[in-house]
Amino acid sequence: MNTSRPDAVSRYMSWAKLRSEARFNLATSGVVDYPLSELPVRIEDLEIGGTDSYGFTPLMQRLAAKAGVGNECLVYTFGTSMANFLALSGLVRRGDEVLVERPTYDPLLAILDHLEAKVTRFERRPEKGFRLGLGELERRITRDTRLVVICNLHNPSSAFTDDNTLRQVGEMAASVGARVLVDEVYLETLFDQPWQSSFHLGSNFVVTSSLTKAYGLSGIRCGWVLAQPELVKRMWEIVDFTYGSPVHPAELLAVIALDNLDRVRARARALLEPNRELINGFLAQHSELECEPSRFGTTIFPRLKTGRAPEFVARLRDEFETSVVPGVFFESPQHFRIGLCGATESLRGGLERIGAALNAMARVG
Ligand SMILES: Cc1ncc(COP(=O)(O)O)c(C=O)c1O
Repeated sequence: MNTSRPDAVSRYMSWAKLRSEARFNLATSGVVDYPLSELPVRIEDLEIGGTDSYGFTPLMQRLAAKAGVGNECLVYTFGTSMANFLALSGLVRRGDEVLVERPTYDPLLAILDHLEAKVTRFERRPEKGFRLGLGELERRITRDTRLVVICNLHNPSSAFTDDNTLRQVGEMAASVGARVLVDEVYLETLFDQPWQSSFHLGSNFVVTSSLTKAYGLSGIRCGWVLAQPELVKRMWEIVDFTYGSPVHPAELLAVIALDNLDRVRARARALLEPNRELINGFLAQHSELECEPSRFGTTIFPRLKTGRAPEFVARLRDEFETSVVPGVFFESPQHFRIGLCGATESLRGGLERIGAALNAMARVG
């Protein structure tokens, strides 16, 4: 064992699993679970065994049709989490220069640390609503950059990057021989906008996504990678020596969910739309927080203008029964992430308590 460097870890994930619980939990980023009883599932539709060697054919067909790709450009896997692990493991060798946006989703950094990549960063600026700035990228990309990593929508801010900008990212990367990995897990929440995966913007794009966040289907773990065939082949080889095979009952459930995605989507939309109104009303009343109104996605990432945010977040949890994600997990300690994807009553209760905590802090300050 190599003792000269610490093992890769995601402190955010262990916090989210062990320490985020609260009466009003606004630390989540995925639409609250879709009830199994509302999917037309009969026990005779499920089976323990029966998958195909490299992707269950009915599921591969549906995912390929949804993404507008051939099966040779698709890997089915466990959530966007495993999709990111496969994609990065297929793309990155030890010492490769990988340019990652900041802030970013912490497990992406943990995987790159595990792969011993040389990670460099470009900034998404809070004062610019965390929008992806091509100038920032241009300043940091080098001839050695092998891969650029971005999330669209962005986690934690939910900023959206349009196709035109992404195409230019792709061209900039191509000019130094690099690829672009786009984690699109939150893009599925653009319910009323026509969009297609950035995979179609250029041959150097690799995309990861899943049904987890936008639909409340996290437990089914249906995720995928879109990539050029030679890379897909490599990822299936990595599957061979990691988890080997998928969980067949989950594949069957994913097929049923995909066949009923309209109703699942309608329920998610009916939850997110009033929640977004609620959170925008809250932001309009609280000038202590700096944050653009929410337009997309499941989270916002405000900055606390005065006082120390880490203490505010700790107090919110200890005294006001409300949890949000501390900005330190996104390398932005003066911010915190609020999820707007839970039950509306819980969001309302949590926001009232954030308001009360802000007032309490103002009184002390
Ligand atoms: C940007 C990003 N990618 C991937 C994931 C993991 O997604 P999944 O639940 O599909 O594994 C998350 C979860 O929070 C995320 O924020």
